[in-house]
Amino acid sequence: MVKFSVRMRCASTLMLILFASAEGPTTLRSAGDRAHLLIGAAVRPSLFTEAPYSATLAREFNMIEAEDAMKWSVVRRERGFDFREGDEVVRFARAHGMKVRGHCLVWDHDNPQWLTEGRFTPAKLSELLHEHIAIVMKHYAGEVFAWDVVNEALNEKGDAKDSIWYNAPGIGMSGKGTAYVEQAFRWAHEAEPHALLFYNEAEGEGLNVKSDAVYRMVKGFKQRGVPIDGVGLQMHITPEFDTNAFAANIDRLTMLRLQVHITELDVSLPLGPDGMATGADLKLQADVYSSVLKACLEHSGCTAFQTWGLTDKWSWIGSHSHGTRGAGLFFDPSYKPKPAYDAVLSALRAVPQRVN
Ligand code: XIL
Repeated sequence: MVKFSVRMRCASTLMLILFASAEGPTTLRSAGDRAHLLIGAAVRPSLFTEAPYSATLAREFNMIEAEDAMKWSVVRRERGFDFREGDEVVRFARAHGMKVRGHCLVWDHDNPQWLTEGRFTPAKLSELLHEHIAIVMKHYAGEVFAWDVVNEALNEKGDAKDSIWYNAPGIGMSGKGTAYVEQAFRWAHEAEPHALLFYNEAEGEGLNVKSDAVYRMVKGFKQRGVPIDGVGLQMHITPEFDTNAFAANIDRLTMLRLQVHITELDVSLPLGPDGMATGADLKLQADVYSSVLKACLEHSGCTAFQTWGLTDKWSWIGSHSHGTRGAGLFFDPSYKPKPAYDAVLSALRAVPQRVN
């Protein structure tokens, strides 16, 4: 009798285990691991002390990226180098077995005043940028596996955007289009030959003048042997986003044997006077999230799916839209998973094994 009940208990435990594994992974992280897809979030190290923030991050994501902590505005707040905030990101990732994406080495935004108002000559700026890329990449060598080397270099016409690095005054290649972008990639490769090097762009995710220009630029890079490994598609989008055009863009980029990372996804919704999105919009949002994920999963070269934050409590969208839009992420302000979370989890679970 005793023996029987023990065996029965063993059998029911076994049944439970079988049931659990038949149901598949229960977090984005475990489902992402199984589908060989990096599931990332942009993070603010100042929030690591908020218990649900850290717990949700560690449970749901296998990759993180510093939202601001590795930008010039933080690392070079003063003229020297200050790696404290970026190092916190790396420590968190190490403690939880996650990968780290680096963001970003060259951008016309989020630069310190001493740099933007320093009236440097092109020769001096070139020296400053070369040194910055070398020192930051060497500091994070072996920790940061992929870098956004250059962020948002093009305007909506597809031309090199006016910027401190291009032509105002630039690093000495003013008027030569994306030659300065190419130079930055060469310096990056020289500094850390093992890191994957990405060009990251906004509003060039579908098919338009800007994404055509990105395509032409990176195709030229590949043909000329400029060291580039991938393109980051930011994806600050709305439910009206055209996912077919997006899939076509991933298609042509991955055909160049470049990786694609979805780097800054959020699907912002209009907010009512109560600061809330409607249930209908949350459902539309869930559909867009799962279509974006499916477009990525269809291409083995699309290797990372990252959101710009994790909870609507801490998202840049609110300040960026002056409070008119928000609710763009997986978790609500109390860290409750939203329909978008469920949709992405079930789309990931539907992929038993991904062939790479
Ligand atoms: C944003 C951050 O989220 C904010 O905290 C910061 O004040 C401004 O930058 N594209 C990018 C990101 O590449 O670096 C931006 O991040 C959002 C748009």
